[in-house]
Amino acid sequence: MSVLSGKKVLLGITAGIAAYKTASLVRLFIKLGADVKVIMTPASKDFITPLTLSTLSKNPVHSTFYEKEVENELWNNHVDLGLWADYFLIAPATANTLSKMSNGTCNNLLLATYLSAKCPVYFAPAMDLDMYIHPSTKESLQKLQSFGNILIPAASGELASGLVGEGRMAEPEDIVSFIENDVLSKLPLRGKKVLITAGPTYEAIDPVRFIGNHSSGKMGFAIAKAAANLGAEVILISGPSHQQIKHSFVKRIDVVSANDMYNAAHTYFKDVDIAILSAAVADYKPKNIANQKIKKKDSTLAMELTPTKDILASLGLIKKHQFLVGFALETNNEIENAKSKITRKNLDVIVLNSLQDKGAGFATNTNKITIIDKDFNEKPFKLKSKVEVAKDIINEIILKIKK
Ligand code: CTP
Repeated sequence: MSVLSGKKVLLGITAGIAAYKTASLVRLFIKLGADVKVIMTPASKDFITPLTLSTLSKNPVHSTFYEKEVENELWNNHVDLGLWADYFLIAPATANTLSKMSNGTCNNLLLATYLSAKCPVYFAPAMDLDMYIHPSTKESLQKLQSFGNILIPAASGELASGLVGEGRMAEPEDIVSFIENDVLSKLPLRGKKVLITAGPTYEAIDPVRFIGNHSSGKMGFAIAKAAANLGAEVILISGPSHQQIKHSFVKRIDVVSANDMYNAAHTYFKDVDIAILSAAVADYKPKNIANQKIKKKDSTLAMELTPTKDILASLGLIKKHQFLVGFALETNNEIENAKSKITRKNLDVIVLNSLQDKGAGFATNTNKITIIDKDFNEKPFKLKSKVEVAKDIINEIILKIKK
């Protein structure tokens, strides 16, 4: 999955011949799952039609502050457009527009939107070679970069003038890869490996029966996605769960029993930076697993149980650089029990769920947590969807590992 999937990309087109390539650009962004809106300078419409871009982007294309042809003269709010975007790309960016951007000139919708935008702004210059190396263009490029805008350098090749040299707009595929790589490199968990356990474990009684629990795995899978979306390489060790995850940064390892999960966690733990153990691991397993299906009898049946290995505690014992996060599901004396787990299992942070809270726990789509760190600072959160809770957990971890 691309880092641009689900992101809002605003494409600003100015009047250069390379504008004809923006149709491909829009298609590439859409293919990656981005939501695309296009704004054009009035003169750029001579090079490519708004209808083409509107059809490809599935959104209206704007080029003026108000649409005269629309009844009541619809106002195009440049502030809204600027705030809507996660990323703003100006491609092709002509010498004229670059100069205006660097000076704060604001005589069209694209420039006003640029001045209002709070998101990262990328610009891909396109012009003839002499224009590209002219000192005034160089000054504009430098000034724009000093403002924090990101230059996608022009490529060398044959230019519309017939001359050969630097000034061609980077190819649409290269522009998209440039932005993807740039976004990736700035993600807060880029370069970090995260191990996550999720779901229940099943402890076999006989070939057809097991001891399990109602954990769905939703919380752990949401955490895995949240971490991967922020650039982490995730190893997700899951007990039996119907949850699905599709993310190129997530490696899923399916296990069944607590012992399988223990072995998988220990295989990967030494190489990870962060371990988040959200699985609802069975605390006990049958001491002996029957080889044959146990037959029904009239008398009562007693089964001897033996404790499973505590994965979290075992990782707490061997941890070195790893940031270790445990979960606690409590029904009473919640804070005290959670704090005692931090100490007993040598954790950096514990995520507490209280079953006293409505909407928290296993089978729901929501959760209500309190995050407690090893200094016993408590941070309660509101009832939220598990997707939002997962983001809160990952954001808290990022804050703590940065300290
Ligand atoms: N855990 C684990 N391995 C186990 C049992 C639990 O890794 N065999 C982890 C869970 O994934 C969770 C944390 O330990 O992160 C809390 O588990 P819990 O069962 O609530 O804690 P216990 O130490 O077993 O304490 P108690 O049963 O008294 O609540």
